Amino acid sequence: MLESLERLPDDPILGLAAACRADPNPNKVDLTIGIYMDEQGICPVFEAVKQAQQILMAQEVTKAYMPPAGDAAFNLGMQKLLLGEGSAVLADGRVGSIQTPGGCGALRIGAEIIQAAAPGTRVWVSDPTWPVHIPLLGSVGLQFETYRYYEPSDHSVNFDGMVADLKRAQAGEIVLLHGCCHNPCGADLSLTQWQTIANMAQQQGFIPFVDIAYQGLGDGLEQDAAGLRTLVDQLPEVIVAASCSKNMGLYRERTGLTLFVCKDADNAAALVSQAKVAARRVYSMPPAHGAIIAARILEDETLNALWQSELVAMCERINGLRAALVGKLNASTGRDFNFIQNEKGMFSFLGLSAEQAIRLRKEYGVYMLDSSRINVAGVNASNIDYLADAVAKVL
Ligand code: LMR
Repeated sequence: MLESLERLPDDPILGLAAACRADPNPNKVDLTIGIYMDEQGICPVFEAVKQAQQILMAQEVTKAYMPPAGDAAFNLGMQKLLLGEGSAVLADGRVGSIQTPGGCGALRIGAEIIQAAAPGTRVWVSDPTWPVHIPLLGSVGLQFETYRYYEPSDHSVNFDGMVADLKRAQAGEIVLLHGCCHNPCGADLSLTQWQTIANMAQQQGFIPFVDIAYQGLGDGLEQDAAGLRTLVDQLPEVIVAASCSKNMGLYRERTGLTLFVCKDADNAAALVSQAKVAARRVYSMPPAHGAIIAARILEDETLNALWQSELVAMCERINGLRAALVGKLNASTGRDFNFIQNEKGMFSFLGLSAEQAIRLRKEYGVYMLDSSRINVAGVNASNIDYLADAVAKVL
C-alpha cells in the first residue's frame, strides 16, 4: 500500500535553502529561508538566550512532560508582550492562550479551534501570503479565498483592493492578517488602515486571525503590535498566532503561542480547554526548552533589557542593509529599488520574474525564492556587490 505513494517535490523554501547549502560555489548567496544572519552569515544565538539557558541548566530538575497548555510564565509573558502591559482585555480576563510548537503549531491550533466552532469556515488570505499558510490551515478542512494585498507594479499595499475584496467577507468568516513585516512582501498596513479593518470586522462580523511571527523586527516591539492591539481593543473576538523564532532566535526550539481574545472570561477558559484537546490529538504537549528560556527573558528585567537591546541592534542592521541594498541595486541596474527601504522585516520582493530568479541561482549561485522574495538579512558586506552585479546581469 505504501508503495503507491510518490515522491513529492521539495518545499519551495526549505528545498531551496538545502540546495544553497549543497552548492559548492564559493560566491553563493543565501537569501532563501527567513532566518536572521549576521555579517559572517551565521544565525547567532542571542546573548540573553545563552544566559537564560545557563540558568535553566543550573536549575532544571526534571524532563517530565510539559502540561498541554505549556509553561504558565511563558503564556503570561507572551500575552503581555503581544497585547501590552496595560491591556484592557487582559485585565478583563478575556484572553486565553496555549504554548505551541512554534508559530506553525500556533496557526494549526488556531485552525483546529475554528474548524471545531464552524467546520469548513472560509479563511481570507492575502495575495500573496506565506505559502505554508494554506497547507497548515487547509489540512484541518478550512476553505480559502484571497484578498488583494500587494501591488507589484508600484511595490505598495493595494489597500483599496483589499477593502473591496474584504467587503465580501461574511459574519463568522476568518481574515488572516500579517501582524507586521508581511511575509513575503514586507509591505505593511498603516495604523489608519488597521483601523479601517477593525471597523469592517465590527460591521461585518468577520474574525481577524493575526499571524505575528516578526514582532520587533519592523519598527520595534510595541510599534509592531499596534495593528493587532487596534483590533483587540475594539473587537469581541481575535485569534493570534505568535512565534519566538525570529525575535528571540529560538527557531529550532519551536516556541510559539496561540492566543484567543474572547467575548468573556468563561469563553476564554472554554477555548483553552478546546485548544488543549486539539493539542492532545495533534502533538500532545509542547516542547519545554525554548518556552522556559523565553519566559525567563520576558520576566527578568536584566535579561529583558539585554534581549531588547540585541533585538534593536538586529533590526538596525537589517534596516542598514535595506538602505545599502537600495544604493547598490540602483547603481548597478539604473532602476529604482527605493521601495526596499520602505518595507519592513526580513523580506522584500526584488520584482524579478521566476525565470530571472532561476538564472540568478543557476548562473550566479544567488538563491532567492522564485517569486524573487529575498531575505534581506542574508545580505552582508562581502556579498552585496556580487549580488547587485548579478541582479543587474539578469535584468
Ligand atoms: C520563511 O518564510 O522563510 C520562514 O517563515 C521559514 C519557514 O518556515 O518558511
